[in-house]
Amino acid sequence: MIKAGIIGGSGYTGGELIRILLNHPEVEIDFVYSTTRAGKQVTTAHPDLLGLTHLEFTGKVNPNIDVVFLCLGHGNSTQFLKEHQFSKDTKIIDLSNDFRLQADAVLDGKKFVYGLPELKKEEIQKAKYIANPGCFATAIQLALLPMAQSDFLQNDVHINAMTGSTGAGVSPSATSHFSWRNNNISWYKPFTHQHLEEINESLNSFENDIGELFFLPNRGNFTRGILATAYSPFEGSEAEAIELYQNFYADAIFTHIASDAIHLKQVVNTNQCHIHLHKYKNILLITSAIDNLLKGASGQAVQNMNLMFGFQEDLGLQLKAGVF
Ligand SMILES: NC(=O)c1ccc[n+]([C@@H]2O[C@H](COP(=O)([O-])OP(=O)(O)OC[C@H]3O[C@@H](n4cnc5c(N)ncnc54)[C@H](OP(=O)(O)O)[C@@H]3O)[C@@H](O)[C@H]2O)c1
Repeated sequence: MIKAGIIGGSGYTGGELIRILLNHPEVEIDFVYSTTRAGKQVTTAHPDLLGLTHLEFTGKVNPNIDVVFLCLGHGNSTQFLKEHQFSKDTKIIDLSNDFRLQADAVLDGKKFVYGLPELKKEEIQKAKYIANPGCFATAIQLALLPMAQSDFLQNDVHINAMTGSTGAGVSPSATSHFSWRNNNISWYKPFTHQHLEEINESLNSFENDIGELFFLPNRGNFTRGILATAYSPFEGSEAEAIELYQNFYADAIFTHIASDAIHLKQVVNTNQCHIHLHKYKNILLITSAIDNLLKGASGQAVQNMNLMFGFQEDLGLQLKAGVF
C-alpha cells in the first residue's frame, strides 16, 4: 500500500479523489488537508461518505508520504509548495493550471510532466511531478489529437463545449447559483478560454501546421460532464476518420470511439472519454464527452498515479455511469 495526502480536500476535485482512493486497493489516505475545516470529520464536507470513513481534516501535512494531490485553485499550488516541504521521494500530482504550460513546468527544480496519458504515457510512467490537464482541455485534446498527429488540422477548427456547474468549484458564484443556473444556458470567455494554451501546446507537439482554434465554452444546466464538438475540413471518408481515431487510441484504456451518436450521461461518473465522428460534405464533426471531475480531473489524476507507481492503469477507476 502507498500513502496518499490530499490538499484542498473539502472542494469538488478533492472530494472525488477521496471517494476514489477509499476504494483503491493499493492506496491508504494518510491525510486530507483543509485550511478551513481542520479537526472536523471529512463527512462534514462530504456527507455521502458517512459510514465509509472516519477520516478528519487536518491542518498539518505529513512530508513523508508517497504521493500528494494538490486540489487547489490557480496560483495556490505554487504558493502551497513554497510553504510546505515534502520528502524528495514524494510524487506530486497538481490539478490546477499552475504547471501545465512548458513555460511554467519547473518549480524549484521540480519538473512537471503534462499528465494526459493518451499523449504522454511513457513520460508519465517515469515522472515524479505531474500537471494534470484541465477539464475542457482534456475533452478537446482527445477530440483533436489524432487529426493533429496526421496533419489534418491545417484549417481553422470551430469548437463548442458545454460544462456542468461543478466545473466552477464548490464556492457559490453568480453563475452557479441555482436560481440563475437552473433552466438556463449561456456562453462565457468566447475564443479566449485559458485552456486554449495547453490545448495548442499539445496539438503543436506533433510539429504539423495547426489552424486557429475558435473555442466557445458554455455553461450548462446540469452538475457534471462536458460535451464538446469540433469541426474542420477533412478530405477522407467517415470510415477513414474512424480508422484514424481507432488506431490512435488502440492502447488507450479509457478513450473509445462510439459508432452511434454520443450523449453526456454515458460517461458521467466514469473516467471514460467517448468520441464520435460524423462526416458532412467535406467537414468532419468530432464529438467528445467526459466527466469533468473524473477524466477531466480526479479520475485522470488517479490514472496518472497508477502509471507512476506501476499499478494497473484502471485500478480503482472501474466506475459505473449513471445513465438514467
Ligand atoms: N472542478 C472541476 O471540474 C475541475 C476540473 C479540472 C481541474 N480543476 C482544477 O482543480 C483545482 C481544484 O478545483 P475544485 O473544483 O476542486 O475547486 P474547489 O471546489 O473550489 O476546491 C478548492 C479547495 O481548495 C482549498 N483552498 C482554497 N484556497 C486555499 C489556499 N490558499 N491554500 C490551501 N487550500 C486552499 C479549499 O478547501 P479548504 O477550505 O478546505 O482549505 C477549497 O475547497 C482548480 O485549480 C481547478 O481549476 C477543476
